[in-house]
Amino acid sequence: MPSYVIVGASRGIGYQFLKTLSTNPSNIIIGLARTPSAVRAKVTADTLPNVHILHGDLTDPASLITVAKEVSKLTGGAVDHLIINGAYLSEQTMFMKPGDFVGKETQFLDELNASMHTNVAGALYSVNAFIPLLKSSAIKKVVVVSSGMADPGIISVSEIAESIPYAMSKAAANILVAKYAVEYKKDGIIFLALSPGYVQTRAEDPDNVPPELAAAQAHLTEQFRKYEPSVKGPITPEESVEMQLKVIEGITMEQSGEFLSHLGTKRWL
Ligand SMILES: NC(=O)c1ccc[n+]([C@@H]2O[C@H](COP(=O)([O-])OP(=O)(O)OC[C@H]3O[C@@H](n4cnc5c(N)ncnc54)[C@H](OP(=O)(O)O)[C@@H]3O)[C@@H](O)[C@H]2O)c1
Repeated sequence: MPSYVIVGASRGIGYQFLKTLSTNPSNIIIGLARTPSAVRAKVTADTLPNVHILHGDLTDPASLITVAKEVSKLTGGAVDHLIINGAYLSEQTMFMKPGDFVGKETQFLDELNASMHTNVAGALYSVNAFIPLLKSSAIKKVVVVSSGMADPGIISVSEIAESIPYAMSKAAANILVAKYAVEYKKDGIIFLALSPGYVQTRAEDPDNVPPELAAAQAHLTEQFRKYEPSVKGPITPEESVEMQLKVIEGITMEQSGEFLSHLGTKRWL
């Protein structure tokens, strides 16, 4: 029974991993969340089989070490796939360009620190907590959900000057993945930084997107079209997770440390 631990599984892409993986009854799926009770209620309402929800916070290394012990009991001492999905999205700075921080230097530093704390340090805490269980697996795969926004090429072509602390933290997470790949090559652990694509997770009801969000997404879609003219808008979490799981399944030790997209390439859209 292959096991999957999803760190940051309460909603969006993380929750979709639970939903998609639970369609295969042979999977053991463990979702970590900051508020497990709410997520457990959702899992029960959605009647997802083989899904366990435990407490884990990316910014709290002790919580990850504790939960790894609980996970070990559920999986028989090994973890096959560790997927670090949760992230601090720095909503305050989502529409700010570098020059907008004149006079707002403290805000820049605070948001950079928060982004690096969750998205980079949190990934390191998670991997370190689960390394002993990954070593005991025959599959040994670690995925850090990154973002195409960490690629200078798409930033330049799409002319996206905003969302700096977030994009910088994802670029730093990609470096962390490359470093881990080097350290644990001898143990056969495969690491991947994986962009999920442009995904509709911000709207509660994707068929009824609030006007302000719809306008922001329409603008982003226009920018993305400069990079990939066929982009119509965000894809669904279902589509993204299905594609990500295919990439995860196919990744080999030769590719360990790479930064790839849901397409399995370096095309981000
Ligand atoms: N959607 C996109 O288009 C897109 C594009 C590129 C990359 N991504 C990446 O995909 C991943 C998921 O994004 P999403 O769109 O699904 O975002 P989302 O719907 O806003 O979900 C963010 C998730 O991160 C969790 N989280 C935040 N801080 C955490 C912490 N300290 N510890 C544990 N979990 C924490 C949240 O949990 P709470 O409920 O507790 O807040 C939530 O489950 C992120 O890494 C994001 O950067 C998304």
